[in-house]
Amino acid sequence: MVWTSRPVKSLKGAVRAPGDKSCSHRALIFGGLAEGTSHFTGMLEGDDVLRTGAAMSALGADVKRLGGGAWEVTGVGAKGLSSPAGILDFGNSGTGSRLMMGVMAGHDLTAELTGDKSLCSRPMNRILTPLRQMGLTDTAGPDGRLPFSLTGTKNLQAITYAPPQASAQVKSAVMLAGLSANGTTVVEEAKPTRDHTERMLRGFGVEVGVERKPGEPTRISIEGGQTLRAIEAAIPGDPSSAAFLVAAGILSPASDVQVDGVMSNPTRSGFYDVANLMGAHLGAEEAGEAAGERQINIASGYAHLKGIHVPERYVASMIDEFPILAVLAAFAEGETIVTGAEELRVKESDRIDATVAMLRANGVEAEGTPDGFIVQGRAGKVPGGGLVETHHDHRIAMSALVMGTAAQNPVRVDDISMIDTSYPDFLAHMATLGADISEGGPAESRGSQI
Ligand code: S3P
Repeated sequence: MVWTSRPVKSLKGAVRAPGDKSCSHRALIFGGLAEGTSHFTGMLEGDDVLRTGAAMSALGADVKRLGGGAWEVTGVGAKGLSSPAGILDFGNSGTGSRLMMGVMAGHDLTAELTGDKSLCSRPMNRILTPLRQMGLTDTAGPDGRLPFSLTGTKNLQAITYAPPQASAQVKSAVMLAGLSANGTTVVEEAKPTRDHTERMLRGFGVEVGVERKPGEPTRISIEGGQTLRAIEAAIPGDPSSAAFLVAAGILSPASDVQVDGVMSNPTRSGFYDVANLMGAHLGAEEAGEAAGERQINIASGYAHLKGIHVPERYVASMIDEFPILAVLAAFAEGETIVTGAEELRVKESDRIDATVAMLRANGVEAEGTPDGFIVQGRAGKVPGGGLVETHHDHRIAMSALVMGTAAQNPVRVDDISMIDTSYPDFLAHMATLGADISEGGPAESRGSQI
């Protein structure tokens, strides 16, 4: 069903960032592996995370959703997971499926895994290759796509592995397998990726070694056989979801947007740094800690943006934010160039093609390259008026709806249902700020141009 976002004169108000998706997955997984009962508050209750909870529960953990973002998880303890009765369906979630493959590799179990159309088209060999070296067996074909089944073993062997991609999911899957392997597993990471697995495992009492030497890959090591101990934790707000609201504030004239409780972690903050490099003036106020992460309240107001060549050192720390960065680039003056971001081709959609098509459909000149894209900024005057194909990608849908708030004509998207995978409150939060987003195309609705 088509939804339309119409231009509005200003966006004002304060909202609380939803719980971080990466941390919420990890809370359920680690809680389910721990000895004892963990309690979490502020969890993201998007479909992706719910499916990870369902998978942990099918494998034997006691996972209870208490309501309002509070969860209670009683773990099975070391190597305590067992074969599930049914198929594990991870829906749209790359993180849930890939981290769980690492977990299951070290348990005496067999499980069938599947997902939606998007997930079944995403590469899993990046996970299967190291896990097979450790001892996992599976029924995946040479293309390594879901669905397939896998069989873990209590006799997993530690490895030293240098992932060819900058991927926190690959790093985390290998580390989680390493947790139940014989010996010490080492991941050699050439470019730093989000470090929530390292930080949260430490919170659960696991020793994780991190060795950094200038000019060399970071060595992350984990000794097998360690016990996780249950914790009580509040989940910090998601900087990737907050980015949509912050961008809406930057683009809208006379705006005053505040997003509270956003996790501030250098492995996740690239979008904010790059927005400031383009001319945004984002305010940040300390907002305490959650689960060992710093949190800030971010203030966002209208800014005249200039296009830039995004420095490649920011790419990994903003890997989920490129569709919304492209929207900022469309409103900026001059050209914006993204390079070194080839991983965008294997996200929930091919995000280079989907992002470029989103802009072109709305009168913005853009072109894709093998590892990024180039956008010709319209200096504040984005025509809009297009219908965006989301390709079942939540971040394309949210980016297009934000673009509609500040374009010259309404922007339509072909579907919004998948926004629930990561940000179920997105429409409510946008409405709080004064956005005009509703079901149907402009013909059936009251919207018009400004
Ligand atoms: C995630 C890692 C990233 C990111 C995803 C969440 C995680 O994927 O895109 O949304 O929680 O570890 P990659 O590891 O494939 O870069």
